[in-house]
Formats: sequence, C-alpha cells, structure tokens
Amino acid sequence: MTPTHIEHIGIAVKNLDESIRYYENILGLKCYSIEEVADQKVRTAFFMVGQTKIELLESTDPEGPIGKFIEKKGEGIHHIAFAMSDVAAALKDAESNGVQLIDKAPRKGAEGLQIGFLHPKSTFGVLTEFCSK
Ligand code: CO
Repeated sequence: MTPTHIEHIGIAVKNLDESIRYYENILGLKCYSIEEVADQKVRTAFFMVGQTKIELLESTDPEGPIGKFIEKKGEGIHHIAFAMSDVAAALKDAESNGVQLIDKAPRKGAEGLQIGFLHPKSTFGVLTEFCSK
C-alpha cells in the first residue's frame, strides 16, 4: 500500500504558544486549529503547508508519550504521518511484511482521523504514522 502524500509532520515542543509564534511570525503560516487529544496527553496546533500539515505537540503530562520523548531526546521531529486510503489494511500489510506495530488496529487521532503507528525499531528510527479520513 502506497501513501498518497505526507499528511503531517509531528513536532514535539515544550511550549505550544511560543512555538506557534515562530511558525506564524517567521514562516508566515497560520495556525488554523488548536486541539487537546486527552487520549495522547497532548495539546496540538496545526498549520497547512501545501497539502501537508505541521502538527505541533505539547505534552499535558510528563508521563505521556510526548513528555517522555522530550525528556529523552529534547524538542524536535517526533513522527511522520503518511496519508493512506485504508489505515487498517496498511497496518496489516506492514505487519505481514515483518514490521513491528505500535497499533494493531486504527484508533482515533486529532482532527477525527483514523491513525495507527509503526514502531521506530522497524522503520529505521522514524516513528511512522499512517492516517486516513
Ligand atoms: Co500525528
């Protein structure tokens, strides 16, 4: 299964409001949505760049996935999300080809998307997300 495009790039930040100012004032992008995803213990901010989004991720809990990531690696690129026509099928495909999955089945992500993650151990160090509408 082949992605149609890069849906978004997820970037872990310590301070959402400060990082939003950078993307707005220096890059001239417009934050079109701020959303809390309680499930993931994050607050997210979205910017559109062509058909790809930048998704800023601020942790709401030091024990959450982004809190732990920043503790270990600092701020920076956290994951890349590929747009897939069918996340469930794409996850199955990857698994049957020996890729270790974080999510065996799709779950609900920000913006109401269906999402699923592949383990970075199987993807040359890049936490990889599949998503679809
Ligand atoms: Co994402």
